[in-house]
Amino acid sequence: PESDVLTAIEALAVVPVVEIDDAAAAVPLAHTLSEAGLPVVEVTFRTPAARDAVAAIAAELPDFLLGAGTLVLPDMVSAAADAGARFGVSPGFSGACVAAAEKAGLPFVPGAVTPSEVGACLEAGARHIKFFPAGAYGGIATLKALDGPFGWTGARFMPTGGVRPENVGEYLALSNVFAVGGTWIAPRADIAAGRWDVIGERARAVAGLRP
Ligand code: 3PG
Repeated sequence: PESDVLTAIEALAVVPVVEIDDAAAAVPLAHTLSEAGLPVVEVTFRTPAARDAVAAIAAELPDFLLGAGTLVLPDMVSAAADAGARFGVSPGFSGACVAAAEKAGLPFVPGAVTPSEVGACLEAGARHIKFFPAGAYGGIATLKALDGPFGWTGARFMPTGGVRPENVGEYLALSNVFAVGGTWIAPRADIAAGRWDVIGERARAVAGLRP
């Protein structure tokens, strides 16, 4: 069920956002993250290999918290669900994407940065909202300000974009942040080169960061 997946993500607190160029890297990457205590990923649907990467992880590691990101069109949402994603993420808000996710039974995290967009997410029934690009849209200060009018609604955010080891603790300390996302744990070049040791080290460093 929807709440189980999002609750599990909240417990892990940090979601590695990845760009996979070769689907053969997907399973070693997922094993690396699992062994590091961070069995979660958002595979961005902006590379040709993304769909096969998700399907490969789904087949090999059924318990892994397997997400698909960059879902900006409804067809992408259903493709991600069909490939075996257990949750979907979008950088922005689209009612058609939310509807596609509902139809597919896919827990879905739409994105918002302005009060109007947060309102659109709420109206569509979402309480878990991506806040992207976090750094460029005011980061911690904006999240604190949004908590004034929206805290009572239960809306909580996953800031992504500019989250780094230096500021991740500050983001996670906010009561309206349920998790953070970022590419720093498994950058595209490290995945492409199969540098599982350094990816594992960075994942171990953030596993268990939840304050
Ligand atoms: C995303 O798709 O969520 C962003 O590209 C992640 O941003 P970052 O590279 O600053 O972590």
